Amino acid sequence: MQTSRAALLSPVEFGDIHCRNRIVMAPMTRSRADANDCPTALHVEYYAQRASAGLIVTEGVQPSIDGKGYPRTPGLHEAAQVEAWRRVTDAVHARGGRIVAQLMHVGRIASRYNKRAEARTVAPCAVRANVSLYTDTAGMQPCDDPEPLSIADIVKVIEDYASAARLAREAGFDGVELHCTSGYLPMQFLASNTNLRSDAYGGDTSRRTRFVIETLEALVATIGAGRVGFRICPANPFNDVVDFEPLDTYRCLLEAVRPLRCAYLHVIRSPLSTIDAFALARAHHDSALIINDGYEPDTAAAAVTQGLSDAVSFGRHYVSNPDLVERIEAGAALAVFDRKTLYTPGARGYTDYAALGSATPGGAPQ
Ligand SMILES: Cc1cc2nc3c(=O)[nH]c(=O)nc-3n(C[C@H](O)[C@H](O)[C@H](O)COP(=O)(O)O)c2cc1C
Repeated sequence: MQTSRAALLSPVEFGDIHCRNRIVMAPMTRSRADANDCPTALHVEYYAQRASAGLIVTEGVQPSIDGKGYPRTPGLHEAAQVEAWRRVTDAVHARGGRIVAQLMHVGRIASRYNKRAEARTVAPCAVRANVSLYTDTAGMQPCDDPEPLSIADIVKVIEDYASAARLAREAGFDGVELHCTSGYLPMQFLASNTNLRSDAYGGDTSRRTRFVIETLEALVATIGAGRVGFRICPANPFNDVVDFEPLDTYRCLLEAVRPLRCAYLHVIRSPLSTIDAFALARAHHDSALIINDGYEPDTAAAAVTQGLSDAVSFGRHYVSNPDLVERIEAGAALAVFDRKTLYTPGARGYTDYAALGSATPGGAPQ
């Protein structure tokens, strides 16, 4: 029996963020920022086109020059970036939408070809990732050898996150989401093969989780718990991370941050069949829960109806369906996205996917 999609269309609150439906746009790096790591007029159009989502989580945004790893990703550490993001948030708010900035520090998943000359590549330890990255100027490149973070460096990185959260609010964002998945810096602290430290930030689970706990505490102290969410994917091996005890790691992390009462937890299904990441999240987290990974409108509606989550996020469907909410409401077919233009500069494959019943210049890619 087809579950009513209406379950996805009722309002929901993520802490202090009031959303008109339970359809969340998942964060997606699209590599369209300008040479100063600023979002452009294309970003304004792209996010405005998708503003009917209950909540938009932006592409990963670096909180510092060191936090950048990929080409053409935007930042939130300079005044020009704040001004540029304000045009995005204004456009989304003018259409009744809500938008949070995803704070993404890549740590060791970086190439010097993709970042400013003075930027460092840092990680919990000097262990290079066995990963290659695309660069605009030198094609595919191995990741840099990372410099291990000193305790003073860690304090500074956490300050950078907090500063980015303050700037996010200045830019008009409704809040921020801390990116703790996909083998980037927070996960490099959480995972066993990337965190070989023997100080207060490495060792047993309580120490490996400390960096993420302190970062969340700093974000909450800066903009309030009701505007801070975080994203996890227990045991995700992407970008060469291995956690030998993922259940313990994430239980420990969730219990430690539980008293903070963050606005929401955004959890991706675990690739390990032995871990039910959604059940783990429900058992160890009290506020709103957003689930993600391969959802279709009907499976998402069923998940919300059954009380498995408060909301569901969609990634790939949002690439090619700017009006995903309206399509779900109408029971309309979903358009297919073009993989080749996911990360290419320009409007093609970015802002030229048509909404239902409207023609786009140049036509939507198939
Ligand atoms: C093009 C692309 C870029 C992505 N970039 C990010 C990102 O910046 N931050 C993040 O947390 N996840 C990122 N993801 C993962 C998505 O948020 C989402 O978890 C994934 O696509 C699975 O959801 P889906 O099945 O609805 O597509 C990206 C996914 C895609 C397809």
